[in-house]
Amino acid sequence: MKKNYIIAIDGPSASGKSTVAYKLAKKLNIIYVDSGSFYRGITWYALKNNYSLNDSELFTKKVFNENWNFFMENNQIIFSINGFIPFKELRTKEVRESVALVAKLKSVRDFVVSNLRKCATFGSLVIEGRDIGSVVFPQTPYKFYLDADIKERALRRYNELENIGDNEKADEILKSLNKRDSIDINRINDPLIVTSDAIIIDSTDLTLDQVIEIIYHAVKNK
Ligand code: CDP
Repeated sequence: MKKNYIIAIDGPSASGKSTVAYKLAKKLNIIYVDSGSFYRGITWYALKNNYSLNDSELFTKKVFNENWNFFMENNQIIFSINGFIPFKELRTKEVRESVALVAKLKSVRDFVVSNLRKCATFGSLVIEGRDIGSVVFPQTPYKFYLDADIKERALRRYNELENIGDNEKADEILKSLNKRDSIDINRINDPLIVTSDAIIIDSTDLTLDQVIEIIYHAVKNK
């Protein structure tokens, strides 16, 4: 294994990427990056300021001119906007419903992709998202595509939301996951794809620990 390396985990919403990536980073003692949180942060900030969500140039002029700071805390990359670190703000229904629209914009993708690439200066990474193996770090040999049956993903998201006291109806969650996946797959800029060199893992009938073990051994044996 190389000294500094990048593990890319891509896949659709609620496929288990976040927890798998977080725990795998802990196991390997390297840095965890949740690229979706960057898109969520931008969406939250735009919503907070009532900006139009489909004007790519407005994001460049208004949102990216603010003071963004990306840094490492507890082996995880987090960010602040004008000194404020959003956290629970990133998981609201409003952000959830708008983030895929914002993530379609060219200016938004350029801003996030360039900041994600800079994360590699901190050290080895486990980074999860939609375009990590295809666009952000296409040269990495460690690419994984994590998927699961849509009903299983909706159930996982339901449980996740219930845990944070957000009781969205199961059928609404299913609809919103489908909608977000479809926007992510069909967008022009950096769509969600399976690259030909990625290892595909269907986690429908696997536990988190089993998925982590599969990735861990694939990385160690490469
Ligand atoms: O947690 P969940 O899988 O639902 O979503 P997330 O990883 O937080 O990502 C939220 C949204 O950000 C996705 O639906 C995509 O629209 C966008 N995203 C992206 O376009 N590219 C990435 N590398 C990561 C997220």
